[in-house]
Amino acid sequence: MTVAAPFPTNAPAQPVFELIEVEQIFHVRPPGRRFTRERLDLRALDGVRLRVMQGASVALVGESGSGKSTLLRVLLGLDAPSGGQALYRGRPIRNARARGAVFARDVAMVYQDARGSLNPRMTVEALIAEPLRHFDIVPAWEIPDRVALLLDRVGLPSDAGKRYPAGLSGGQVRRVAIARALASEPSVLVADEAVSGLDVSTQAQLLTLLRGLQREMGLTLVFITHDLGVASYLCEEIAIMYLGRIVERGPTDAVLAAPAHPYAAALRAAAPRFFEPMPDPLPGEIPSPLDLPKGCRFSSRCPNVQPDCHDRDPHLGSFGADRAVACLHPLTLPGLASKP
Ligand SMILES: Nc1ncnc2c1ncn2[C@@H]1O[C@H](COP(=O)(O)OP(=O)(O)OP(=O)(O)O)[C@@H](O)[C@H]1O
Ligand code: SF4
Ligand SMILES: [Mg+2]
Repeated sequence: MTVAAPFPTNAPAQPVFELIEVEQIFHVRPPGRRFTRERLDLRALDGVRLRVMQGASVALVGESGSGKSTLLRVLLGLDAPSGGQALYRGRPIRNARARGAVFARDVAMVYQDARGSLNPRMTVEALIAEPLRHFDIVPAWEIPDRVALLLDRVGLPSDAGKRYPAGLSGGQVRRVAIARALASEPSVLVADEAVSGLDVSTQAQLLTLLRGLQREMGLTLVFITHDLGVASYLCEEIAIMYLGRIVERGPTDAVLAAPAHPYAAALRAAAPRFFEPMPDPLPGEIPSPLDLPKGCRFSSRCPNVQPDCHDRDPHLGSFGADRAVACLHPLTLPGLASKP
């Protein structure tokens, strides 16, 4: 497919997104008190530091409620953060979004609820033609050819164009959502749980498709998932979130081979493996973001907890050349596979 993205993907590496100490605080009613005027601060994001370079593939991983979708909404400019800086190509994301078409064309989104994101009254070809027309990507007479090209690109037969979303399987609907996202020739693809809830073989086909697209088109990919296997297959970098903070970040292979943060290690240990007994789940419940533990936010569940962990709140800091960790007592030494 000819790609004339607004930002050439062969440009020298530069940050597409940069989050500097980003906070997102929601003011919520105390649990169980529907009629009160009282509001509590819920820290959905707290001191988030993240840099996504052009052409990178980054998986955001974490338990339910860790703040992944909230972070994505900040990246997409749907919500302004309550604190810190969220930048897109060096400019505040909200301004970039407000300035319009360039951001909307360059940053495409694939939603978890792909079916819900598609108008059920439009045919597949009309759904894919919509962004082509909206962003004036090709002249009107070229639209049918471009739709056919996009259908082929995502592995759908050309007759799928005449169908409505209700006549498509779950995997096909996701392919349509990906084709629609690619129609504006973005250089950035952001996806929230885009392959969850599908059977394993459909999931594998979609992952292969996404990985191929990312590599061939030089797309920058930010991919939210609960699944470390998905993260490791699709993304070269991983950022692991816990209670509103990125607690470990680095090359996926290196982090998963020798996690430095005890939460990252626990997530890895809890991942099911073929022909092995089901591993023990991570002990304890994730604390309420309305009542964070004192000191390190993982201290109430950390198998490695030390006395000072209850007093000091570790922020994400460099760990060797290309990793970062938010822990006072990392499990590995920078550059080593494990503690001697
Ligand atoms: N609009 C909102 N108002 C109040 N609280 C919110 C709002 N959006 C998110 N939260 C809270 O912020 C925290 C982070 O939520 P978020 O949806 O970002 O988590 P998540 O990691 O995406 O979880 P999941 O894996 O279940 O999708 C949760 O405690 C959630 O209840
Ligand atoms: S700072 Fe302490 S409690 Fe927190 S993750 Fe590290 S070792 Fe565990
Ligand atoms: Mg979410």
